Amino acid sequence: MTLLLIGPSERGRVWSQVFEEAGAPMVFGEDAVEDPTAIEHIACWNPPEELRCYPNLKTVISTGAGVDQMPEMPEGVALVRTLAPSVDEMVRDWVLMASLMLYRDMPCYLAQAAEGDWRAHPPQRASAGRVGIMGLGRIGRLTAATMTDLGFEVAGWSRSGTPVPGIGVYRQDQLEPFLARTDVLICLLPLTDETKGLLSTPVFGMLPPGAVLVHAGRGAQLDMEAMRAALDEGTLKAAMLDVTEPEPLPKDHWAWQDPRVVITPHIGGQTDSEEGARHALDVIRASREGGDLPGLVHRKKGY
Ligand code: GLV
Repeated sequence: MTLLLIGPSERGRVWSQVFEEAGAPMVFGEDAVEDPTAIEHIACWNPPEELRCYPNLKTVISTGAGVDQMPEMPEGVALVRTLAPSVDEMVRDWVLMASLMLYRDMPCYLAQAAEGDWRAHPPQRASAGRVGIMGLGRIGRLTAATMTDLGFEVAGWSRSGTPVPGIGVYRQDQLEPFLARTDVLICLLPLTDETKGLLSTPVFGMLPPGAVLVHAGRGAQLDMEAMRAALDEGTLKAAMLDVTEPEPLPKDHWAWQDPRVVITPHIGGQTDSEEGARHALDVIRASREGGDLPGLVHRKKGY
């Protein structure tokens, strides 16, 4: 029941310590694997070329929140994503920062500051703003709670429409009314066939004029040219992106130079190594005992 960890050396150091303390066998890096038949679990961001080299593999654990970088799992191998409060909180914090920056006209003031231009625009209070969160998983629900506390009127949009206490929830087929009441559109969706290219002209067209976009999902969900057209038309006032397609965004991409767009290099959240290792131990325990794997990815839904 050995776990193979693939990743940076600092993560290897922390995981080795946690696994040693727990008395659980672990090897770090594929080069250290002496007997592939002993490997039952692999934790990684980028998976090995050939998962079939490990005939007794039971689970692959993504060391991040996303799993869109993973290939299709061989029959009998479960895919799990890391559940770690560190990622949830950090992405929530980034979304909060971006939402407040956009809501309080920071892109405009940054551009003015570069010119030494002291001009004020009418400020708005949070309680006058309607936030719409696409994706109500762990991060979406945490973000919704924090933004509700700040006074925003928060609603969410999710595939299932499962109720979330304290906010209005719109189902997949209620996208139009959800967007029509959204001034700050936040995307926290996982990348699937259904969400690829979702942030596009029809979606921007359903927002009230002057809405802002906060994107912390995946780059491939956003049609950048559609965003540029929406910014030019005034449907969108500004956008803040932590994810792009491709990553890194090329140096000469127009969005870097556009004062209405603020980009950060996919730094929203990072799994704390110790939390990641402890989650992996929980997965191994559940697998051994035949229980539900924490963070199990639904094969068909893709998240
Ligand atoms: C980051 O994007 C992650 O999926 O953890």
